[in-house]
Amino acid sequence: MNLLVTGGCGFVGLNLLGALTNRPIKEVRIVDNLTNSSRGNLETVLSYISGDRVQRVAADQWVLPGTEGEWTVKLIEADIRDAEAMRTLSDGIDATINLAAQSGVPASLDDPRFDLEQNVIGTFNLLEACRAHSVGTFITASSAAVLGDAAPPQKEDQRILPLSPYGASKAATEIYCSAYNASFGLNTLAFRFSNVYGPFSWRKGSVVALFIKKLLSGEAICINGDGSQRRDFLYVSDLAEVVADAALGRLQGPIPWGEAVNISTGIQTSVSHLAECIQREAERVGVPCPIEHAPARTGDVSASAPSPQRLETLQPTLKMRRLEEGLPQTVDWFIQNWRT
Ligand SMILES: NC(=O)c1ccc[n+]([C@@H]2O[C@H](COP(=O)([O-])OP(=O)(O)OC[C@H]3O[C@@H](n4cnc5c(N)ncnc54)[C@H](O)[C@@H]3O)[C@@H](O)[C@H]2O)c1
Repeated sequence: MNLLVTGGCGFVGLNLLGALTNRPIKEVRIVDNLTNSSRGNLETVLSYISGDRVQRVAADQWVLPGTEGEWTVKLIEADIRDAEAMRTLSDGIDATINLAAQSGVPASLDDPRFDLEQNVIGTFNLLEACRAHSVGTFITASSAAVLGDAAPPQKEDQRILPLSPYGASKAATEIYCSAYNASFGLNTLAFRFSNVYGPFSWRKGSVVALFIKKLLSGEAICINGDGSQRRDFLYVSDLAEVVADAALGRLQGPIPWGEAVNISTGIQTSVSHLAECIQREAERVGVPCPIEHAPARTGDVSASAPSPQRLETLQPTLKMRRLEEGLPQTVDWFIQNWRT
């Protein structure tokens, strides 16, 4: 199977490669403009997942052993806003996984037009490229932010009411996916990720990565608002398993093509409780962990509580890791791999 993965050098994309190595993949074409990652990050991950058995066979092309035979990874430095490039690169592809995005709420408030161009136009270009080359499946990364402050449990069929331009741009991509499914028969799924954390989050500014980086830099961790805001923290490898299975047609049916599916744990944790967990981790690894408070941030929702009910019907055997399990693994990864 041949996959196109946009944003494949980013946090989720790098972890997805780990999930793909156990599956029958022939080629992965990564499209990334490297604005939020680097070639070096990709090479580190390819070495890691292959146990140092990756071979560089050409510039930006590698062959790796996988459990189902050798597979090839190609990096194409390109921008999803380039419609022509996306069309060319989609030739011979069976499934596209779209992870490239402007992925932050604060950045979307600073520059809503950039957010729209990256997330909406970029996704539209990829949908058009799929249509041109009869790609079978299109998986895109959406977010629990599309529902804004909807009362929990947040289900996929609730009214879309984003609070930020980021939530709006993700909602627009979901609606385009739905239309391409209905109009052109493209198998689309928009996965609404909850708050993802885990290894290879070098550059992430989301709360878990941010707190760990502060901790390891000897700085105070800062809670915005009163800390009662609740999040569903999702370990990245669990997310990667779902996305890989969806792209390979391995979800159990009936699959709600054209619709959104939450990927979440169903467990809500307040930011204050997360800070306490980080303090326990600080004790474990022997570093101090002062906490300070700052005003609440605009666009932050009070509770993100996406229901995992729909996902459980598609992947009944998957057990999502709890924060107590995933957090120590993430802290240990940062200690070994991150330098200030
Ligand atoms: N990480 C989370 O907690 C989370 C939560 C909800 C949704 N998501 C969504 O998941 C997806 C992946 O998130 P991530 O955390 O890996 O983000 P990331 O920023 O780590 O990765 C995105 C990658 O896309 C690349 N990129 C950005 N704009 C591009 C463009 N125009 N063309 C080509 N490449 C481009 C970046 O260089 C980067 O490598 C995003 O769509 C994000 O909105 C993430």
